Order: sequence, then structure tokens, then C-alpha cells
Amino acid sequence: MLRVAVMVSGGGTNLQAIIDAVDSGRITNTELVAVISNNKNAYALERAKKAGIRDIVVSPKDYESREAFNQALIETVDSLKVDLIVLAGYLVVIPPEMIDRYENRIINIHPSLIPSFCGTGFYGLKVHEAALQRGVKVVGATVHFVDKGTDTGPIILQKAVAVEEGDTPKVLQQRVMEQAEWILLPQAIDDIANDRIVVVDGRVVVR
Ligand code: GRF
Repeated sequence: MLRVAVMVSGGGTNLQAIIDAVDSGRITNTELVAVISNNKNAYALERAKKAGIRDIVVSPKDYESREAFNQALIETVDSLKVDLIVLAGYLVVIPPEMIDRYENRIINIHPSLIPSFCGTGFYGLKVHEAALQRGVKVVGATVHFVDKGTDTGPIILQKAVAVEEGDTPKVLQQRVMEQAEWILLPQAIDDIANDRIVVVDGRVVVR
């Protein structure tokens, strides 16, 4: 049974997709152990409570320094004894020590086809604003392992989504979430929970 912690900062629609997938059996062999947020007001925490999943807040605002926050976050995650950490709209930089400790055991959903529109400053709506500004005809989402870079770890799954005439950033974001993010993240968790994923020379190979 794969023990999973989900880390969130906002509305939690990706978290909800994971919860629904576990409930419907699209994700198997998985236990959602806890939801951790940096933001005590994140609606994602309400979603966790409704689903009967332990909700934890570890906020940088509650610590004297970033180092103290990092230490508290690592201790919290370690105490949960999880096999996989899922970043689902989590907007705080993961401490390098945590990335070392959980090498290829932290995954992230990014709302673009990496390596497009990713890296520092590309998150949430900003990603879709940049895509529309560039005039691309296809966008999408990517699930990848987290390494010490920003959106640079081994790619697990990607799914393309068409840009449509007249799209606004909000409309495009919603389509990418519905047609890609909410499908890919549960699928990646199920693949990992059922041992279908391995990283070879920095690239993901499906068994
Ligand atoms: C979404 O744009 C997602 O792509 C990104 O964070 C945003 C909010 O996601 N990772 P959620 O609704 O909090 O899951």
C-alpha cells in the first residue's frame, strides 16, 4: 500500500481529483495519509477534512527563518512515514535536504508541456498568460519528479490540450485542468503505486 502525502497551497482541485480517483478505484493500492498546506486558509484543507484525511498546516509565517520552516516541514513529512509526496498546486520551494531524502519520491503537476512555459515565475495563471501571449496552438500539463531545479525533474506523464479561438487565461487554465491535470496526476500516482515507473539515466521508463 503506497502511503501518500499531498501538499497544497490553494483551491485543491488537483487534490480533489486524487481523492475522487482513490474513491472510484482509478487509483489503487494507495492510502492518502495527510494533506499539508503552507496556507491555513487553503480551500484544499476543507476538501481534505470532508474526505476524512488528516490536514496539517506548516506555514513559513509561523517561523523565525526559512531554515526553521524547512526543518519543521521535513520533520512533519518524516513523521508521516510516506512513500510518495505529491505537490498539487503547492507554491513553496521544497527544501533541498527534503529533495535529497525523497529522491524520485516527490512528484509535481505543472500546467504546461515542459520544457515550455516553466521555471521560475511560471505558475498558475501566469503559465496560460504566457502561452496565449506566445500564440501557441497546443498547451497541456506535465507530471514530473521533483529535483533541485524548478520544473526540471524526470518527466512522468504529459497530455496535450488545444488552445481555442478567443481563449482567456482563465478559460485555458480550466480546460488544461479538466482535460489534463485532473487526469494525469491520479494516473501517475496509480502508476507509482503499482510499480510501473522507474527512472533510468534521468528519464522515466514505464515497466
Ligand atoms: C493549477 O493551475 C495547477 O496547474 C497548479 O496549481 C494551480 C491550482 O491547483 N499546479 P489546485 O486547484 O490548487 O489543485
